[in-house]
Amino acid sequence: MVRFTSFMLNLGLALAAPSLIPRQDKEAVNKKLIVGAAGQILSFQFDGKAFKPISKVVEDGKSASWMVFKHPNHLYAVDENSNTLRLFNYDPATGKLSDKAVSEKTGSPGVVSLEFNKDKTRLLGGSYSNGTVDIWDTSAGDGSMKFLKNVTLQGDVNPKHGTHRAHQIVPDPSGRYFAVNDLGGDAIHILDSKKDYTITSKVKVEPAGCGPRHGGFLNANSQSNPSSLPTHYAVLCETMNQLQLYSIEKKADDTLALKRVQNQSSYGPGVTFNTTTAAAGELTVAYNQRDVYITNRLSGNETDNVSLFSFQNKIGKDDGLLFKQQISSEGVSPRMMSLSRDKNESIMFVANPMGKNGLVALTRDESCGSLAPMASMLNTDISPKDGGFGPQFVLEIPATEPSATRHSANKNA
Ligand SMILES: *[C@@H]1O[C@H](CO)[C@@H](O)[C@H](O)[C@H]1NC(C)=O
Ligand SMILES: *[C@@H]1O[C@H](CO)[C@@H](O)[C@H](O)[C@H]1NC(C)=O
Ligand SMILES: *[C@@H]1O[C@H](CO)[C@@H](O)[C@H](O)[C@H]1NC(C)=O
Ligand SMILES: *[C@@H]1O[C@H](CO)[C@@H](O)[C@H](O)[C@H]1NC(C)=O
Ligand SMILES: *[C@@H]1O[C@H](CO)[C@@H](O)[C@H](O)[C@H]1NC(C)=O
Ligand SMILES: *[C@@H]1O[C@H](CO)[C@@H](O)[C@H](O)[C@H]1NC(C)=O
Ligand SMILES: *[C@@H]1O[C@H](CO)[C@@H](O)[C@H](O)[C@H]1NC(C)=O
Repeated sequence: MVRFTSFMLNLGLALAAPSLIPRQDKEAVNKKLIVGAAGQILSFQFDGKAFKPISKVVEDGKSASWMVFKHPNHLYAVDENSNTLRLFNYDPATGKLSDKAVSEKTGSPGVVSLEFNKDKTRLLGGSYSNGTVDIWDTSAGDGSMKFLKNVTLQGDVNPKHGTHRAHQIVPDPSGRYFAVNDLGGDAIHILDSKKDYTITSKVKVEPAGCGPRHGGFLNANSQSNPSSLPTHYAVLCETMNQLQLYSIEKKADDTLALKRVQNQSSYGPGVTFNTTTAAAGELTVAYNQRDVYITNRLSGNETDNVSLFSFQNKIGKDDGLLFKQQISSEGVSPRMMSLSRDKNESIMFVANPMGKNGLVALTRDESCGSLAPMASMLNTDISPKDGGFGPQFVLEIPATEPSATRHSANKNA
């Protein structure tokens, strides 16, 4: 009887295989995610419905609020509460993470953003506390980090911060330049990798006290050549909740001149919000160079929102970002979000450290860029010990290195 049943099952599977398997392959979701929360680094497998825990590193008092990965197994993590940069081993095939850091080096205090140069031989770290950008040599095969130097942001600072704050490093898709968003200095500084990673130009982000936090490059010439110098830069001001767009001009001396062409409320037209608490957070540009997503944090409602703006090369006479949609982040204070690494960037992963849901997946429609609810995980399940203070960072790490150009336009590449 048992043998007969298993025979029937085998037969059934064998018969079903030719038609079923290709279909399953197309629709199967199998994403490996790395997540940073206060006092923990976690990895998950996401199947389209639920987040299944794989590894958990508990590190009380530390905060891995930003991480980057270099194949085959090097995961670099900031600790925004100290001055260390850590290297973990991470296996992208299994999603398994080493129990603790395999190496630790001292750099600037309070680093909150990391980005590689194109061939991943240099790693840049932006310091929130110190207003500096650390330059590391990561060319060694074992992933070890060698501190080369730090670059100090210069210029006036706003009264709210009283110091420069390098909140995010954004590599330009051509690979040569890096934008540094300076929350305390109300400026975007441009670093040139061909000039020994020095700052060769900057633009003031007005009005004073705007507080530029995160940003992204955009290319109005779309995907014709994803590695060419972008035409625009979008930046989100945390303090004034403004979304600003700049045009980029390359000068004869190879410096970049940024000129503001648009500013608008990050909430889109006509929405009122609590200006005392509101602090816009993340900005993510889709590979299609059309969809720009931002998070509006601490707006005063039960959940915060992710908003979609569409990059139009011409609105009337001006280039611009056009408000399209807003959708609940299903939690509070969405600090960071990132797109899945499949060709269509079919999922937006959102990290809400506060509120009900910590890890949230929103399904994305490539044809129009709109987002819709897909899956979520409770903060009380992710961070039961920390009063539910949950994820601040989420990133899909594909099992194999994506082609060089495919994701170079994505700031999280
Ligand atoms: C940054 O550079 C300055 C000047 O070179 C140096 O004095 C300082 O120690 C450096 N900071 C760190 C964190 O290495
Ligand atoms: C930056 O860090 C260096 C070394 O830790 C320190 O000497 C300097 O005072 C810091 N600067 C600021 C603005 O915090
Ligand atoms: C745009 O910036 C100007 C000054 O730089 C400011 O007065 C105005 O309020 C801003 N507009 C929006 C919609 O934020
Ligand atoms: C809060 O939600 C209400 C109802 O959806 C909406 O009218 C209002 O604009 C929202 N305001 C804030 C600050 O979230
Ligand atoms: C804005 O938030 C602050 C702090 O939570 C609160 O005291 C204030 O009443 C809020 N303002 C409005 C208009 O809701
Ligand atoms: C968030 O989005 C919802 C749905 O569009 C809207 O009702 C609400 O007013 C938005 N809240 C804020 C603060 O924008
Ligand atoms: C990708 O998006 C395009 C445009 O919406 C759609 O035609 C195509 O079916 C999508 N591909 C997959 C694998 O979902």
